[in-house]
Amino acid sequence: MTDTESDLLARIRVHGAVPRHIAIIMDGNGRWARERHMPRPFGHRSGMKAVRAVVEGCLESGVEWLSLFAFSQENWQRPETEVSALMSLLEEFIAREAADLARQGVCVHVHGDLDRLSPAAAAAVERVRRETSGGARLGLNLFISYGGRAELVRAARLLATDVLQGDLLPEEIDEAQFRSRLFTAHCPDPDLLIRTSGEQRLSNFLLWQVAYAELYISSVLWPDFDRAALYEAICDFQRRDRRFGRVTP
Ligand code: FPP
Repeated sequence: MTDTESDLLARIRVHGAVPRHIAIIMDGNGRWARERHMPRPFGHRSGMKAVRAVVEGCLESGVEWLSLFAFSQENWQRPETEVSALMSLLEEFIAREAADLARQGVCVHVHGDLDRLSPAAAAAVERVRRETSGGARLGLNLFISYGGRAELVRAARLLATDVLQGDLLPEEIDEAQFRSRLFTAHCPDPDLLIRTSGEQRLSNFLLWQVAYAELYISSVLWPDFDRAALYEAICDFQRRDRRFGRVTP
């Protein structure tokens, strides 16, 4: 750990409350590659290293849940070479990291329209789920082939099915029922949503879940986002006054 990282970590510990759940829109891989006159997949590969750094940072600082937007439904429309590079990286990440993640107590969950994955990518997803299922220190949600609106539609369809089958009355549908049909039913909502590369959009990520999240926009491009950048975001979060629509006493 560098001096800057340990100073920031000490500051975080003095403050106390760390966000339980951090969600990240990892953006800027393409620009990072372009700045180096390299093809876009080169940026994604470097982005994979930033994923590792952020997982380490969460483990070190006591964050319980980390949600990463790794591939959106819209990303399927990128050039075939880029899509296959991203899928290969996912498989490589799992092949290389699954054992270490399991050893470190990370439990990996993968969410999204996984039917669209290639057999090799789907097998990798199954493998990481299986091998890390005992992890109790950090829950890592990877969102792949994911769209927030599609997740809401899926939840509505699940509710409708339960009503049709006579397992649920329409008047019993409330926020808790809705929430329990989301991919993230197993974890608390994000407290902090980080987006890198300076863009100020949600881009269809966790639309329901970020209702009360604090937003942190970092100008850093994702491949350069490291542990210190994560700790800066956590320090910033610790200075926020979260009111959830109420007034401070
Ligand atoms: C956005 O940058 C990033 C992505 C579409 C992919 C994110 C993937 C990774 C970080 C690597 C693999 C991750 C895992 C978990 C194995 P962009 O391409 O839209 O960048 P740009 O806006 O600069 O073009």
